[in-house]
Amino acid sequence: MSKKSTLNTLLELKAQKETFSCLTAYDACFSHFISTAGVEVILVGDSLGMVLQGRDSTIPVSIEDMVYHTQCVAQGNDNSLIMADMPFMTYGTPEQTLSNAAKLMRAGAELVKLEGGEWLNPSIKQLNDCGIPSCVHLGLTPQSVHKFGGYKVQGRSPEAAEQLLREAKAAQQAGAAMLLLECVPSSVGKTVTQAVDIPVIGIGAGPDTDGQVLVLHDMLGLTPHKPAKFVKNFMADANGSIQDAIAAFHSDVKTHRFPGDEHGFSA
Ligand code: KIV
Repeated sequence: MSKKSTLNTLLELKAQKETFSCLTAYDACFSHFISTAGVEVILVGDSLGMVLQGRDSTIPVSIEDMVYHTQCVAQGNDNSLIMADMPFMTYGTPEQTLSNAAKLMRAGAELVKLEGGEWLNPSIKQLNDCGIPSCVHLGLTPQSVHKFGGYKVQGRSPEAAEQLLREAKAAQQAGAAMLLLECVPSSVGKTVTQAVDIPVIGIGAGPDTDGQVLVLHDMLGLTPHKPAKFVKNFMADANGSIQDAIAAFHSDVKTHRFPGDEHGFSA
């Protein structure tokens, strides 16, 4: 039986230059499979808007949806650290952030994830002061898809890469416990990871981040659309066993077999 993962576990792994894995889950059954496979972090992602609800984006997801699915995941979890997404427009001010983060923590989350740059820092500080750890999601932030004009790689120009680095350092300074980088060049993933002391999880951010996350349904090949470049289908070699696919993902992350160069982006 593996030990309960906490933020300290992730800090220790970062210090030892060992990677950790993270998968999304939205219910008790998959939460159980993922945590018993030894995956350190479960993300109750607002990707549930697309994966479970069939929406075009994460924008329609409500705090009530997130509370419900966080409760389900907490019921099935054994030893993973549970992170829950704060959905669109639930963290506009520090007061609103605190009130909605409290709902997720009461539902079983152990840290909350918010998307955004330096404008978030007063809310990060407020959460930290009140004992709620947070993860800041940078790079491609899906709740801003309409501002970006689509799901596009971020941080490609030297100026944009510099801004991402500034935002990462400022989030750490404000009290963030973790960062998540989505769809940025592998070189940016490496630079940001080396520049901060807190754990950095990547998705489409290259092989050098401290942790790797995928959306569960993507890595099980359960998506109707063409998967993104950074996705690997772990069911392909799992003889139809979901448990084996999850175990292969965890093992490939730990041994640096995933992600490969083909899953990353250049500047
Ligand atoms: O909601 C989610 O699943 C996420 C991942 C894309 C990291 O934020």
